[in-house]
Amino acid sequence: MSLKKKIISSEIPCHVAVIMDGNGRWAKHRGLQRVLGHRSGVDAVRKLIEASAEIGIGYLTIYAFSTENWARPGMEVAALMELMIQSLNNETDALVKNNIRLRTIGDCNRLAASVRQRLAETENITAACTGLNLIVALSYGSRWEIASAAKRLAADVKNGTVDCESIDEAKFEEYLATAGIPDPDLLIRTSGEMRISNFLLWQMAYTELYITDILWPDFGKEDLFKAIIDYQNRERRFGKTSKQIEKSKIV
Ligand code: IPE
Ligand code: IPE
Ligand code: MG
Repeated sequence: MSLKKKIISSEIPCHVAVIMDGNGRWAKHRGLQRVLGHRSGVDAVRKLIEASAEIGIGYLTIYAFSTENWARPGMEVAALMELMIQSLNNETDALVKNNIRLRTIGDCNRLAASVRQRLAETENITAACTGLNLIVALSYGSRWEIASAAKRLAADVKNGTVDCESIDEAKFEEYLATAGIPDPDLLIRTSGEMRISNFLLWQMAYTELYITDILWPDFGKEDLFKAIIDYQNRERRFGKTSKQIEKSKIV
C-alpha cells in the first residue's frame, strides 16, 4: 500500500524545501563519475515535483546550486549548468501542462547568460500557472540574500522611500528573494548531513527539519510521503506550550 493513503489531506505542508544532497556519493558507490550522479538526480527531481503536485503542496523550493558550489571544479560546475539548461529544455512543456509555475531565487549575476536566458524563458512561459509553485534556488546562498536585502533596504532609506523607524521583520522580508512566499513548513535534506548549508536561514526560523540517509538520486515519491507523514505527527508549538496548542485546535 502506498504511504500516500496515510497522509492527512487537510494538513499538507504549504511549503516544502529540499536540500537535494548526495549525488556525488551515489555515483562514487557505483564507480561512476560525479556528473552521472547529478544526471540521475534530475530524475529524482521530476518524481519529487510530480509527487508534490499530486498531494497538493503549494510551494516547493529545491536547492539546486549554492553560492559555495561555485568553488567546485570547473568541469563539475559546467556540467551542472548544462544539466540545468537541458532539464529546462526538456521539462518546460510538462510544467505548463501540469500548471506548475517556476521561479528562481539566487545571485543570477553569477550565472552565464545562456542559463539566465533559459530560466527567464521558463519563468515567463509558466508565469500564469496557478498550481504548484516551484522555486529553484540556483547560485543561492542565504547570507548573500540577507546581505543584498540589507543593501537594497539601506538604499531605500537613503532615497527616502522607507522610514528607518518603520523597519521591522515584515518590512525586511519584502527585500528577500522569497518575498511573498510563505516560510517553509518542512525542510527535507537527503544524504544524512546534519546542516543547513546556507539555505533559507531567515525563512527557516520555525521550519520542521527532516533528514534522511537516502542519497538524492534514490529519493522517490514514497520517501516524500514518508517525510510528510513524519511532519504530520509532530506538534508545532512556535514557542507556546502544548496545552495552548491543544486548546487552539479545539476552538
Ligand atoms: C548535491 O549532491 C548536488 C549539488 C550540491 C549540486 P553533491 O554533489 O553535493 O553530492 P555529495 O554530497 O558530494 O555526495
Ligand atoms: C548543499 O549541498 C547545496 C545543494 C544541495 C545545492 P552541498 O553538498 O553543497 O553542501 P555541503 O557543502 O556538504 O554542506
Ligand atoms: Mg553534497
